[in-house]
Order: sequence, then C-alpha cells, then structure tokens
Amino acid sequence: MKQYKVVFVSKTGNTKKVAVAIYNGIVSNSKDIVDLEEEEHCNTDADVYFIGFWVNRGSASLDILEYLGELEGKKIALFGTCGFKKDEEYEKKIEQQIKAWIPEDAEYLGSFFCQGKMGAAVRRKYEQMREDPKMEKVADQMIRNYDEALLHPDQADLDRAYQFAKEISEKIGV
Ligand SMILES: Cc1cc2nc3c(=O)[nH]c(=O)nc-3n(C[C@H](O)[C@H](O)[C@H](O)COP(=O)(O)O)c2cc1C
Repeated sequence: MKQYKVVFVSKTGNTKKVAVAIYNGIVSNSKDIVDLEEEEHCNTDADVYFIGFWVNRGSASLDILEYLGELEGKKIALFGTCGFKKDEEYEKKIEQQIKAWIPEDAEYLGSFFCQGKMGAAVRRKYEQMREDPKMEKVADQMIRNYDEALLHPDQADLDRAYQFAKEISEKIGV
C-alpha cells in the first residue's frame, strides 16, 4: 500500500487549514500529516508527499525547501497559500522557484494555490504608502487585495484542495 504524507509549515494557520483539507482528500488508509515546525526530525519514509508552504517573499521558508530537497525518488505534490489574489502567472513563478528544490529523480505531481489572509501590519503599511499621492493608486489596489485575502482560505478553497488531493491519490492508486 502506498504511504502518503502531508508535511507543511504555517505561520498564522492558513496553510494548516489547507493541509487538513488535503489530508482529508487523500484516498488511502495509510496517510499522515506533520507540521514541520513541531517535528524535530521529520523522516522521509512515505511514497507520496504533499508539501505545503506559505509564500514568503516569492518563495518559501528554508526549512520546508530543505525538507523538499531530501525527497529523492518520491512522488511530490506542492500546495501553498499566498497573500496575492489568485493569478496564474504569479503562481507559476512561485511554483518554479519551489520546484527547483525537488530532487531530479523525484516525480512531480502538480501544485495547488489559494489566497491566505495577512496580518494587520500589512494593511497599515499600505495605508502609509497611500499618503504619498504618487502611490495612491497602487496602494488602493494593495488594500483591495488585502481585504479580499481576509476571506481566504474559504470553503471553496478548501473544497478545491480536497479535490486536488483526491484526484492525485486516485490516479496513483493503492
Ligand atoms: C514575511 C512574509 C512574507 C510574505 N511574502 C509574500 C509574498 O511574497 N507573496 C505573497 O503573495 N504573500 C506573501 N505573504 C503572505 C502569506 O504568504 C500569506 O498570508 C499566507 O497565507 C500565510 O500563511 P500561513 O497562515 O500558513 O502562515 C508574506 C507574509 C509574510 C509574513
């Protein structure tokens, strides 16, 4: 039987919610979910990995990238949450950044992204930025994006994540 493992990092809980939806979507009796920050040493004994991260300055935090780099010969899917609104081009760029850490002999299965709310300090920064007339338009756009992000991940995001994991695991089989 194929063993599945969901391994994630989540600073404020958005990615954790998605990780749980991914875990629930995996069709297998042999599955596990691990918060990398709580596990001192996360082993690499599963066959299929769903690796989750929050987008940090266009990439992900080093702990999850290094873990990804250890997954030689595994099947790997990625999932992430980010502050910016769903934009395929942006997501593709992040996917490429993170995919670069996957070992050459691993099999890449695809990625899932959704928006995730950001801390209040970010909105304050945009409000300050808005005080400069040259920046007003850009700041308004950022504030709209920030407010939109407050609603995510929502149930529709979690349903999509669940479906993403379900389809991958059904394709792989037992
Ligand atoms: C230090 C920092 C850097 C971030 N960089 C980005 C970024 O480059 N692009 C983006 O879309 N969101 C960025 N975000 C927003 C987070 O990726 C987003 O809020 C995410 O859902 C947080 O997930 P978590 O709740 O699992 O920690 C950043 C947030 C922080 C705190």
